[in-house]
Amino acid sequence: MKAKVALGADHGGFALKEVIARYLAGKGYEVLDYGAKNAEPSDYPDFAGAVAAAVRDGEADRGILICGSGVGASIAANKFPGVRAAICHDTFSAHQGVEDDDMNVLCMGERIVGTELAKEIVDRFLAARFSGLERHVRRLGKIKKIEREYMKS
Ligand code: RB5
Repeated sequence: MKAKVALGADHGGFALKEVIARYLAGKGYEVLDYGAKNAEPSDYPDFAGAVAAAVRDGEADRGILICGSGVGASIAANKFPGVRAAICHDTFSAHQGVEDDDMNVLCMGERIVGTELAKEIVDRFLAARFSGLERHVRRLGKIKKIEREYMKS
């Protein structure tokens, strides 16, 4: 079964989000669109928070966030324990981030990455699976320890 993908963007990422939403729906993914609903100025933490919560709560298998640069969205999403968000503007990071680091939210900047590259990045992100190798599990365990010590859940 295809993954459920939560999507979110502020005005800086709205146009690319619309492209990615159509692209994923066309490939048979279930797309949960958490806004923005238009390109009017908006605040990226609102959409990053909604997508991060959906991934944390298991409503979505993966999340994709788009803002102007990807920076604000990734900062906001990573405040959620259990969310591992990263900016990827290349295909290597998009799959290795999942395989090694169990990245579950992909962040991109519409002002940085072109539409066709963004589609390929999304493809590699969604096709990738965490390797489960001991060294990566160990490192993730250390991240979880940081979350327990420094974040309220
Ligand atoms: C909005 O202008 C812009 O700051 C935002 O989309 C994002 O790039 C923040 O990191």
